[in-house]
Amino acid sequence: MAATDKEVETTGFLGWIDRRFPLTSTWKTHVSEYYAPKNFNFWYFFGSLALLVLVNQIVTGIFLTMNYKPDATLAFASVEYIMREVPWGWLIRYMHSTGASMFFVVVYLHMFRGLMYGSYRKPRELVWIFGCAIFLCLMAEAFFGYLLPWGQMSFWGAQVIVNLFSAIPFIGPDLSLWIRGDYVVSDVTLNRFFAFHVVAIPLVLIGLVVAHLVALHEVGSNNPDGIEIKAKKDEKGIPLDGIPFHPYYSVHDFMGVCVFLFIFAAIIFFAPEMGGYFLEANNFVPANSLQTPPEIAPVWYFTAFYAMLRATTDPFKIVLMIVIAALGVLALLRARGKWRLGLPVLALLVVVFMALTESKFWGVVVMGTAVVSLFFLPWLDRSPVKSIRYRPLFHKIFYGVFVFAFLVLGYLGTKPPSPASTLIAQICALIYFGFFLGMPFWTTRGRFKQPPDRVRFKPH
Ligand code: HEM
Repeated sequence: MAATDKEVETTGFLGWIDRRFPLTSTWKTHVSEYYAPKNFNFWYFFGSLALLVLVNQIVTGIFLTMNYKPDATLAFASVEYIMREVPWGWLIRYMHSTGASMFFVVVYLHMFRGLMYGSYRKPRELVWIFGCAIFLCLMAEAFFGYLLPWGQMSFWGAQVIVNLFSAIPFIGPDLSLWIRGDYVVSDVTLNRFFAFHVVAIPLVLIGLVVAHLVALHEVGSNNPDGIEIKAKKDEKGIPLDGIPFHPYYSVHDFMGVCVFLFIFAAIIFFAPEMGGYFLEANNFVPANSLQTPPEIAPVWYFTAFYAMLRATTDPFKIVLMIVIAALGVLALLRARGKWRLGLPVLALLVVVFMALTESKFWGVVVMGTAVVSLFFLPWLDRSPVKSIRYRPLFHKIFYGVFVFAFLVLGYLGTKPPSPASTLIAQICALIYFGFFLGMPFWTTRGRFKQPPDRVRFKPH
């Protein structure tokens, strides 16, 4: 039903507003008459929790900005001032730093839910793509924000990551100079990172979150059974298995919010550094461009991708070249039409280019591709059912192995490299990419269970 068809208030103050602004109809379309499947489970808490953390980051960020100084000579001390002198400053800062990590916890779980229930499949491709863009923005936001306290890890982390760009052939050195605005990370870099962290990225992020939700409400939510509730409606056009978001899911999500806030508060009050995972010890030391810390590692939420970057050594580059060449041969044997020649030629060009360029650059490519692959999921997965519930056992095993490999990469990225850990990271990186590349083939195989006609739901 279009927003304008809905009954709206005609009298009183609300009537006055409704004749000038679609308040009641928007509320009805997106909240009180948005019909969501009645079988939402635990995994459906994380969307609203991500919204909560987004608001937390914006509000605490505004208060931090009131006392923070984006100046290389003052930044570190201004953060200490917030921690020691500003009334409740320590709480605001810990809410923001803990919020950053919890954002990633919540978003990773939210993405995992999408993966399990095939929420990226038709007609929700755009919901997923906006989600992936949000994930990219979130990574950029966290990276820019991490420089601001101007501690040793802030400085050297930014130095390492910006230097990665210099590995890009031809334009690399100029590009990294352009990003930094200086020959090393400096006050100029701090100023531009501050502008991105506080204004540019949050604006894009909020815009993308709005687009994510508008796209979701256009097509309706998926559910753990992965079946479309809009296929079965009553005579009024209401999905038989749908319940209004408000009050049912507003109350349901409020409970999730309460449990989340208990955990959030416990971390803030009892373990804000979380054993060095949320705030690293080295970042309590002011940035020193003349002293490199013994170990430079990113914060935990980047470590899986960082481990893939580090695993791309010269021998691993050769393995990747063999894999790409083998895919080219496979395309020559199996592909039809214009792809038959195009793909093998492309594979050959990539292999030659790889042979001519250094592995550090390919590490950056591997890391970037690991994130970008997510965008293609809607077209890679070709299984006849959406939800994992109705897929063959071996699909569940593949999902399990994929998640395990990602977790192992995340763990290895927090540790200094050794020959054994590099080998394990290389195997896990191959599993990660194998999962995506093989998807068009393995997702169609095996015996699928017939999904039910109506969602499965047991009232509690
Ligand atoms: C700031 C970050 C994000 C916010 C605030 C957010 C918010 C939401 C909300 C409120 C919902 C509806 C409730 C629910 O289904 O849980 C939702 C659904 C969804 N989100 Fe996000 N999201 C974020 C990031 C992401 C990311 C990074 C992805 C994937 C890459 C993603 C993919 C999805 C999908 C596929 C759905 C539909 C799920 C379904 O209907 O089963 N979201 N999101």
